[in-house]
Amino acid sequence: MKVTVVGAGAVGASCAEYIAIKNFAAEVCLIDIKEGFAEGKAMDLMQCASLNGFDTKITGATNDYSKTAGSDVAVITSGIPRKPGMTREELIGINAGIVKTVATSILAHSPNAIIIVVSNPMDTMTYLVHQATNIPKSRIIGMGGALDSARFKYRLAEALGCPASDVEGMVIGGHSDTGMVPLIEKATRNSVNVAEFLAADKMDEIVEATKVGGATLTGLLGTSAWYAPGAAVSEIVKAIALDSQKMIPCSAMLDGEYALSDICIGVPCIIGKNGIERIVEVSLSDAEKAKMIESAEGVRGTNALLN
Ligand code: 2OP
Repeated sequence: MKVTVVGAGAVGASCAEYIAIKNFAAEVCLIDIKEGFAEGKAMDLMQCASLNGFDTKITGATNDYSKTAGSDVAVITSGIPRKPGMTREELIGINAGIVKTVATSILAHSPNAIIIVVSNPMDTMTYLVHQATNIPKSRIIGMGGALDSARFKYRLAEALGCPASDVEGMVIGGHSDTGMVPLIEKATRNSVNVAEFLAADKMDEIVEATKVGGATLTGLLGTSAWYAPGAAVSEIVKAIALDSQKMIPCSAMLDGEYALSDICIGVPCIIGKNGIERIVEVSLSDAEKAKMIESAEGVRGTNALLN
């Protein structure tokens, strides 16, 4: 498998690093507009190959999309990240133009590529890729839910005093500070509902900490996070490469699922060699349904800014 990662900044480089370390791809091509930057990151990462034991070849290119030709998957991380105090939605003006150009350039050289969108505001950028291309909706995946669910599991594990591997949980809805819907009623520790271990106010705290997970890191780092976003992307790419049919919450174009249409928003997706193989409609409580509707209204509000 060949994977292109557009944008060799912290998030893009982290995607390339985790994909390479997991050792399932033949090549990762990093591409960036800054002269020599992607080539430098690729060289630095390749010098880890003997240390970290991977065989994936990482290459770099400056704005030359011919180098990305024949990619099976392309990850779009380009655009500007948010600064402390900014919402993801505030990035739309700059990032929309970039994401549109990048999606078109990728498909010109890799017409069959599955596109994974990371750039923010992620759900709206995923929607934009649908508008700007005419590829099947199964091939456009927004990565937010994979990341938000990992942050949810981190918070659950912290509160439970257990390893994250003991915890199962999903975040659906929009990838925004107000739009995320952590499904805490369904979260478990080794199949036992977390409500058996945690008080209601602690569960509320976990939900709130999860929703502002990205903003908390932006406040600490001065820019948005990269390790967990990179790892989240690598899990989606791995599920495609291995055709594993893994259920991962991702932003997908809905056509009636969850009573929503013409919107990209986080829902559980079965990921395999064709991208989104299927959207899973889990039964939601009335409270979860209401939060999902509210979240969708927020995403639609941001989508309207595209015009
Ligand atoms: C985050 O939440 C990059 O949106 C991403 O960290």
